[in-house]
Amino acid sequence: MVTDPTGPGEFGIYVHVPFCRHRCDYCAFATYTDRDSLMDRYAEACAAEVRGAEDAGELVPATSVFFGGGTPSRLPTDALARILAALPRTTDAEVTVECNPEDATAARLDAYRAIGVTRMSFGVQSTARHVLAALGRRHDPELVPRAVELAHTAGFAQVNVDLIYGAVGESDEDWARTLDDILCLPHPPGHISAYALTVEPGTPLATDAARHPDDDVQAARYELADAVLGAAGFEWEEVSNWARPGHGCRHNTLYWRQGDYRGIGSAAHSHTNFPEGGRRWWNLRTPDRYVAAMEEGLSPVAAEERVQGDARVLEGLMLALRTPAGVPESALPLEEEGLLDGLVERRADRAILTVRGRLMATAVSTFLRVPVTSGTGRPGR
Ligand SMILES: C[S@@+](CC[C@H](N)C(=O)[O-])C[C@H]1O[C@@H](n2cnc3c(N)ncnc32)[C@H](O)[C@@H]1O
Ligand code: SF4
Repeated sequence: MVTDPTGPGEFGIYVHVPFCRHRCDYCAFATYTDRDSLMDRYAEACAAEVRGAEDAGELVPATSVFFGGGTPSRLPTDALARILAALPRTTDAEVTVECNPEDATAARLDAYRAIGVTRMSFGVQSTARHVLAALGRRHDPELVPRAVELAHTAGFAQVNVDLIYGAVGESDEDWARTLDDILCLPHPPGHISAYALTVEPGTPLATDAARHPDDDVQAARYELADAVLGAAGFEWEEVSNWARPGHGCRHNTLYWRQGDYRGIGSAAHSHTNFPEGGRRWWNLRTPDRYVAAMEEGLSPVAAEERVQGDARVLEGLMLALRTPAGVPESALPLEEEGLLDGLVERRADRAILTVRGRLMATAVSTFLRVPVTSGTGRPGR
């Protein structure tokens, strides 16, 4: 039985939707452009996985549900509704659906509201046409204001926009204008995720060195984003996420606190703290194999690992370091102070990343150590 290690009853369910219209040049996620014919069976397989998990006592009512992808908005709404209806959740659960701007229609967003979706997340990336082209992204930027406005009209109080900075051909002005375009919308989103373009192995971007991002350019773009969003009333939630007060993402917060979540669907990851003390497992990667396993009554789990002892504590610290909560001061050794100069500030017994530190969060985390005082194994909160 899953118990609640993160605090007041938080439990998340992630549903992976592995279908896309087109694969963007930078994307290495487990998603496919040629398997739409599986959608109906895929929805049934997800519902079956939920039923099986419930029968095994592995699910408690979720406080957050996240349909991610791939492109969840590509799934027919009735199929998404069937999966959502199968999920046990609390009455105040946050339910997010990732949506590509070209899929946002009044009918679809109204239907999402009607079935209990509470939060929309739009994959915008940029409002500059040539930047979208450089990313291998196909949507028309003119669809972005329409999508965000439709979400408002449909009654969504919680809206996120995903952005990417650092594509070749993007100028500082293009990036500043993208931020501005989003912030100046009639009903701007309360949450913004801004990711540095990452070169993922095996992607078309990886094979084209001329399109690889420049580290210094990306650092400058990050600092600009933080300044612009800060001035607009957004606070940083995590290195790549900012929110206005009251617009934080409950589901993401659960991840950052090393909470318990259950992944449903192909390639979905799950994590539980108890009773085993840190177990992670993940499902078969392709929708074909996933659907086949579910239809044959077999387990969809591909593999699992235990994350225990100091490794688990360190993992929690690494996650916490990326948030404004920071880590206990003793988790970042003082003798390294010179190396961490300007990257970490120490406040009320906590060590918290500065803006520059956030840019180097991965490097800073190599200095983390398990505090001697930590008896609970959860020092990063
Ligand atoms: C995997 S997509 C799924 C949602 C939806 N299909 C979309 O594209 O918005 C979620 C987000 O991950 C980000 N992303 C994916 N690959 C990335 C990469 N290589 N570098 C930076 N951001 C990336 C994009 O901002 C994207 O919106
Ligand atoms: S970024 Fe989104 S739309 Fe593009 S291929 Fe990846 S999952 Fe699909």
